[in-house]
Amino acid sequence: MCGIVGCVLDKKAAPIIIDSIKKLEYRGYDSVGIATVTDSINVKKGSGKIKEVDDEIKLKDIDGNIGIAHVRWATHGNPTKENAHPHCDCKNKISIVHNGIIENYKELRQELLNEGHVFKSETDTEVIPHLIEKYMDEGLDLLKSVQKTVKRLIGSYALAVLSSDEPDRIIGARNESPLIVGVSDHGNYLASDVPAILNETKKVIYLEDKEIIVLKKDDVTIMDLDLNVLEKKITTITWDPEMAEKGGYEHFMIKEIYEEPQVIKDTLSEAEKIKEIVSKFKNFNRICFVACGTSYHASLIGEYLIESQIGIPTEVILASEFEYFQKTLDKHTLVIFITQSGETADTIKALKIAKKKSETLAIVNVVGSSITREADHVIYTRAGPEISVAATKTYISQLICIYLLVAYLGENEKLLDNLYKISRLSEKILSREEQIREIAKKYKFARDFFYIGRGFNYPTALEGALKLKEITYIHGEGYPAGELKHGPLALIEDNIPVVGILPPGPSYRKTYNNLQEIKARGADMIILGANNDTHLDDIEDKLLFDPEIDEVLSPLLYIIDLQLLAYYISIEKGIDPDKPKNLAKSVTVE
Ligand code: AGP
Repeated sequence: MCGIVGCVLDKKAAPIIIDSIKKLEYRGYDSVGIATVTDSINVKKGSGKIKEVDDEIKLKDIDGNIGIAHVRWATHGNPTKENAHPHCDCKNKISIVHNGIIENYKELRQELLNEGHVFKSETDTEVIPHLIEKYMDEGLDLLKSVQKTVKRLIGSYALAVLSSDEPDRIIGARNESPLIVGVSDHGNYLASDVPAILNETKKVIYLEDKEIIVLKKDDVTIMDLDLNVLEKKITTITWDPEMAEKGGYEHFMIKEIYEEPQVIKDTLSEAEKIKEIVSKFKNFNRICFVACGTSYHASLIGEYLIESQIGIPTEVILASEFEYFQKTLDKHTLVIFITQSGETADTIKALKIAKKKSETLAIVNVVGSSITREADHVIYTRAGPEISVAATKTYISQLICIYLLVAYLGENEKLLDNLYKISRLSEKILSREEQIREIAKKYKFARDFFYIGRGFNYPTALEGALKLKEITYIHGEGYPAGELKHGPLALIEDNIPVVGILPPGPSYRKTYNNLQEIKARGADMIILGANNDTHLDDIEDKLLFDPEIDEVLSPLLYIIDLQLLAYYISIEKGIDPDKPKNLAKSVTVE
């Protein structure tokens, strides 16, 4: 996780660097820091969110046309000022920012301590400036010192390095952590992700693993680890900077929920491309989805759809558990990776394992991200940039891709036709914000929530509960409706809020009965159902849908209410839903 930015400009760098690093705060917000070079290295840093640190120490108030900055998601060492990046060498001549984890840092630290280096932090990162210092003291220049250093690192890194001995350049390097270059005629940039530099340039070069870069004001040179110069393609980004701004909404999360009807339309416009990809699949007799978090829940809906609508054996494996299941892979298994960021370390690791034996497809939101460069086929979800840590519109777009995939795999015209109604219906749900806000007020002090669904909406229940946990810090559990009587029913007590997902369709009767069992134990029911369902007359809190949406498509709509419910509980509790504690948007550590 963590976000890094660097730039070499023809003007003062700090104001631009700090505006850029703010765009990466979704990657971590435990601390922030900046370093520039003038005659010497200048560093300012502190723990907390950028705004808090900036109010206190004025981060933009630092001279120099060349600089680096970092937002941290703590891994090694508490989120203190001492552990904040940039980190420096003993002589304060080298300064670096790092995203990733150095797995062999203990051995390296011990070696450097034995040689007399003095460390100021508990981080794994701090070995890097000291190693560079060691090699520069031996007479190597900055580039060769960074080269020798990265060859000794085991683990993941995206790095940007400054030295007061060579004040015209930043040296960058990448391995298993994202890093892009932005080029412009007023200077050049390095960043963890595109939104950081979109205000300055739309021309981007994607770096690959084990590449080193020398970034100067008028020149960018990219090399392999043996310093052979590489030819790289410049890509022009089509996103507007405004797409990554709040645009008048109070939070990114609510803006992104409101974008869902458009995201549905945009993703449906990928239908022809998806049809073409489906026609290219080799023979397979089994499908395996691999993903984490919200993308895992989208995959579960894929499993229910494929098994029930087409009958191909399908399973879903959490990416972090994937290595334990790799023996069953073969050339007749199609492995589908779902990831919004395309940078999730667990998912990348699983893809590297799977592609040795099986055909792979990645369903990804971020164009050019690491996963898109590894998979045999790629489908883009067209959700646009998602900044809030909680995934909302990207989940909807993942589902649309999955439904399209299933429609084409199963040659199911009816499913395809019905999908095109969804965007209009999703707009209706967004108009009942006030009603959801009232429910949020009523339950904001709850300690626990249950979310109950059957079949296609068991994953909806899981995703509703995940949204609640992430941004309200209330404990939420998602369960299949029929499973409570096998144990969890013992936890149901008077006034515990239970969200029941009850669409019309074949599973209605059984789910209704299960919800009655829960209600009879004193729970407060919040029901998501159809607006012609007379059985719901005595339920006070209900969110009702057009009955033309039946079970199969209902996950696309019902989750929107659950996203809104979590959002408004978070607001009622005074929590910033865009930056929940302990989390980050892009999880680039295993
Ligand atoms: C979703 O709200 C979470 N922030 C998280 O579970 C996320 O879905 C997970 O980390 C996977 O991310 P990815 O889709 O970028 O791979």
